[in-house]
Amino acid sequence: MDESFASRIIAYHEASKHHFRAYAPGPGYLDWANQPDPFRRYVGAPIIPLVRPEIGAEPPYEAGFTPGQVAPAPLTAASVSRLFFDALALSAWKEYGGSRWALRVNPSSGNLHPTEGYLISGPVAGVCETPILAHYAPAEHALEVRARLSDRVWQDLREGIVLARGDGLPEGTIFVGLSSIHWREAWKYGERSFRYCQHDVGHALAALGIAASGLGWEARLLDGLGGDAVGALLGLGAPGRVEPEQPDCLVAVYPRGWEFRRWQAPESVIDIFSRLALSGEPNLLSPTHVEWRWVDAAADITRKPAGGASTTQPTTQPTTQPTTKSLSTLPGLRRIIHQRRSAVKMDGETAIPAEAFYRILARTLPRAGAAPFAMLPWTPHVGLAIFVHRVDGLAPGLYFLARDPARVDALRAAMKPDFAWAPLAPDGCPPELPLYRLAAGDMRGVARRLACGQDIAADGCFSLGMLAEFAGPLAEQGAWMYPRLFWECGMIGQVLYLEAEAAGVRGTGIGCFFDDGVHELLGLQGRTYQSLYHFTVGGPVDDPRLMTLPAYEG
Ligand SMILES: Cc1cc2nc3c(=O)[nH]c(=O)nc-3n(C[C@H](O)[C@H](O)[C@H](O)COP(=O)(O)O)c2cc1C
Repeated sequence: MDESFASRIIAYHEASKHHFRAYAPGPGYLDWANQPDPFRRYVGAPIIPLVRPEIGAEPPYEAGFTPGQVAPAPLTAASVSRLFFDALALSAWKEYGGSRWALRVNPSSGNLHPTEGYLISGPVAGVCETPILAHYAPAEHALEVRARLSDRVWQDLREGIVLARGDGLPEGTIFVGLSSIHWREAWKYGERSFRYCQHDVGHALAALGIAASGLGWEARLLDGLGGDAVGALLGLGAPGRVEPEQPDCLVAVYPRGWEFRRWQAPESVIDIFSRLALSGEPNLLSPTHVEWRWVDAAADITRKPAGGASTTQPTTQPTTQPTTKSLSTLPGLRRIIHQRRSAVKMDGETAIPAEAFYRILARTLPRAGAAPFAMLPWTPHVGLAIFVHRVDGLAPGLYFLARDPARVDALRAAMKPDFAWAPLAPDGCPPELPLYRLAAGDMRGVARRLACGQDIAADGCFSLGMLAEFAGPLAEQGAWMYPRLFWECGMIGQVLYLEAEAAGVRGTGIGCFFDDGVHELLGLQGRTYQSLYHFTVGGPVDDPRLMTLPAYEG
């Protein structure tokens, strides 16, 4: 571990905290003339339109999370289209006062959408006759071909370096890469924006994992790759001058039933990718730009070196998901994915039954082979400090869900000594849910105040702070673990969004909160734990002034 990198990323973390006395440095106003274009296009690159699939009633919602619910779909033009449609496509257009803006299946802080998606694939009938590297263009639901690859290079990439029998990836594998254009978020949020970009990567990762699961496929983060290798593979080796695009990660997507063991990209293939003649020029997103002290620096500091492994085996508890509604009464997986929206206001009235609350929380636990958390190669680092406001059958108060039950003693020792840590199971609570009541009481005022005064944190059924083990993972692995802690949080957020929809309520991610205020409430000292993301779930109030239009014409 490089000490200086770890201390510099901690310096960034501190510099990007919101405090009661002052917000993290940001522009303080919106420079509309410079608003970044939310759509990256590679001007001049050949386009492959993807046929837009129907949303449909099948597969059932559970298929997004439970292995074996649907047979693996063959790799075809329809299934490639489906994967991107259910993970990164537009979900609607909104219109108000002469302005129009698109919403997507994957949410984004401020709807600024810094995350870009890429595909590396072998030949697929109806998509490409040769292997390709392509960028996904969500506004068109199309692929922009950046390069065509030889069959040899594609085969070498898929098979990887074979170190032992069973290594490599099977036929029918595709790779999906994610990258971030930090400027899109920095335009509005200044120094804190690097964090938001990482949350958004996490949301997109979970969206991808759940979409893959709906096709009977599995998705794995290939985290042995360094940032430079990911950049080369995605055609981002030479970042743009003023709007750099940071390569974040590569995910292998392949038919379920094949046991993932190990995959390592051959250097020779990365070298070939780094020298590809790429088609298309990236469009400029804003006419002028503001330089923030930290945003590009944080990207450099956290760029993962080659080989460094986040390979602690995940503790995937073989828990079954408690269900409250019979599966037949739930809308299908894709209906829920495409109807997902953020609540802009909560009604302050709606309550959910305790059963539904437990089901929502249970879905955030990693389970053996289940999307989306099986994608991650590390043990869960994030637990949930929950403000219960309106859950029938549960006293309002502060609760804690230890997503890794092995960490309960350490968490308990780190927090206020007068917290009760009273387990809720088995009294109506599923036995596998490591949920504890810390303190009873009305938490609405506290939740609102900690979330930068936002009413949505108090007016829902519950809101929560995601508490990550922080100093330990950074010291053990390096500064590159910093974005990954936010990815884990974003993935939890995506699951909460979908679960809220499935429970008939609505969720909203909360990136604006007073970091140290949360730590003080919990009695946490130092940086062993840090609160990295907040979320709220409740009965939404729609804004009647907004008109909703279909995601795609025709
Ligand atoms: C990382 C992240 C942070 C967010 N923070 C806030 C917030 O502090 N307050 C808020 O009202 N909405 C917040 N949102 C919700 C976004 O504004 C919303 O996702 C975006 O406008 C897109 O709308 P949609 O979720 O309906 O697609 C956040 C979303 C994400 C993904």
